Amino acid sequence: MKGPKSVNRCQQCGYTSVQWLGRCPECGGWNTFAPEPVSSPNNSSSKSFSFGNKSPEPITKVSCSAGSRFSTGLKELDRVLGGGVVPGSLVLIGGEPGIGKSTLLLQSSHRIGEQVGPVLLVSGEESAAQIRMRADRLGSLSDKLFLLSETDVTEVEKEIENLKPSSVVVDSIQTMFDSSVPSPPGSVGQVRECTQQLVRIGKTHGIPIFIVGHVTKDGSIAGPRVLEHMVDTVLYFEGERHQSYRIIRAVKNRYGSTDEIGVFEMGDHGLREVADPSAAFLTERAAGVPGSVVAAALEGTRPLLVEIQALVTPTNMAYPRRVASGLDYNRLSVVIAVLERRAGLRLVNQDIYVSVAGGLKVAEPAADLGVALALTSSFQNAIVRPEMVVFGEVGLAGEIRFVSQADKRLREASKLGFKYALTPACEKTNANIEQISVKSVKEAIEKSLPTASRVKQNG
Ligand code: TYD
Ligand code: MG
Repeated sequence: MKGPKSVNRCQQCGYTSVQWLGRCPECGGWNTFAPEPVSSPNNSSSKSFSFGNKSPEPITKVSCSAGSRFSTGLKELDRVLGGGVVPGSLVLIGGEPGIGKSTLLLQSSHRIGEQVGPVLLVSGEESAAQIRMRADRLGSLSDKLFLLSETDVTEVEKEIENLKPSSVVVDSIQTMFDSSVPSPPGSVGQVRECTQQLVRIGKTHGIPIFIVGHVTKDGSIAGPRVLEHMVDTVLYFEGERHQSYRIIRAVKNRYGSTDEIGVFEMGDHGLREVADPSAAFLTERAAGVPGSVVAAALEGTRPLLVEIQALVTPTNMAYPRRVASGLDYNRLSVVIAVLERRAGLRLVNQDIYVSVAGGLKVAEPAADLGVALALTSSFQNAIVRPEMVVFGEVGLAGEIRFVSQADKRLREASKLGFKYALTPACEKTNANIEQISVKSVKEAIEKSLPTASRVKQNG
C-alpha cells in the first residue's frame, strides 16, 4: 500500500499528523501545522555514520579527544562550554535576533583563527561584504577567517573538505537547506535534516561546528525539541535589549556542567568580557535607599553579588499587583506568604514589584532572604546597611535554611568590600567579613532593619 504524499508537521516540536490539526497535541501550540512532503527513504539522515570504532572495544582502550579541547579565545565562552571547545562537537547558540550571536561568533572565530587555525564562517543571513564591514569595526580582520555565503548544506560540506578548518560557524541553521528534503528552509524538516548533516560532518572530520539558532516568540529555538537532542551543547545568549550586559548560559552540555554562565558587555567595539560580574552589576546600585539589598547568589561555581530591589506600595485595586522580574514568581509568592504569616507584615493590600538589577536572572533559593529583606525594607521604609550582603533560603515555617558554598559567597563579598553578612547558621570562614547568623525571617529583619534606620516617609 502507498503511504500519503505529504504529512502535516508541527513547526514547533516536529509532531506529525496525516490530518491538519488546529492545535498540536504534543506541544499545545495553536496553528503550528504546515504540510510537508514525505521525504524519500534514501535521505542522508537515514544513512548511518560512525564515530570511529566499528567494532566493540573495551572502554579503557578508547582514545579520548576531550583532552584536546581548545580555547575559543574568549574565557567567558570557554567557561560555559566546560573549558573550551571539544573537536567534533556541535554547539547550538540560541538567542533573540539582535542580541549579539553573530558578533560573539565573529569575535571568537577571529581568535580561534589566529591561535588554532583557519575558521570557516558560513553565513546565510549576511553578505560577505557586510561581515567584513563588521569585522573591520570589531578589529577582527584576519587572513585565517574564511567567509562563505552559502545556504546549501552539501556545498558547505565540500568547502569544509577543501579548507579543512579548525572550526566552522553556521549562521543560522534556519537559512540552511538540503536539496534532498522538499520542505522550505526554516521548516522543522529542513532544520532537522541540516542539523543531522552537520552532526555527521563534524563527527567524521573531528571539526567543532557552532550553529546559530533563532529563538521563536515563546523563547524556544525553532523546532526546539528536534534540535536540542541532536547537538552536544545548547547555549542561550540572553540579555535585555536596552541594557548592555549579555549573559550566555548552557542549557545542555555533554562536555561540562550546565550551570556556568559567561558575562559580556556590548559596546561600540563589540562584546567585551566581564571578568568580575559582581562589581559590574553593583556599579549602579542605589545604596542607602529603602528596598535595595545585595544578595550573594551562585551561578555554577561562580559567586555573583546582585542587587535586589523591591517597591511595596498601597494598592488601588481589588487584587494587588505582584510583579517579579529576574526572579521566579512562585518563589516571590512564597516569600510574601512567609512574611505575612511568620513576620506579621500586612502585605495583602500592597502592590509589590521586585526585580534583580542589571537584567540578570536569579533562580537560586539562596536569594530568598534578599527578596524578603528588600520587601520588608521597602514596606517599612527602612534601610539595610549598604555594607551588608545577605543570603539564605526561606522555608515555609519562616526558618532560614542552609545554602551550599557559603564560603565562596562570603569571600566574594569580602573582596568587594562588604563588611557584614547576614547568613543562615553556617560555619565561620576566614574571609574578612563579620558574619551574622540568623535562624528565622523575623530574626533577620530585627538584625538588618533596626528601627533606628527608618527614614522619614516622604509624601
Ligand atoms: P548581532 O550579532 O547581529 O545579533 P544577532 O546575530 O544575535 O542577531 O548583533 C546586533 C546588535 O548588536 C545590533 O543591535 C547592534 C549591536 N552591536 C553593538 O552595539 N556594537 C557592536 O560593535 C556590534 C557589532 C553590534
Ligand atoms: Mg546574526
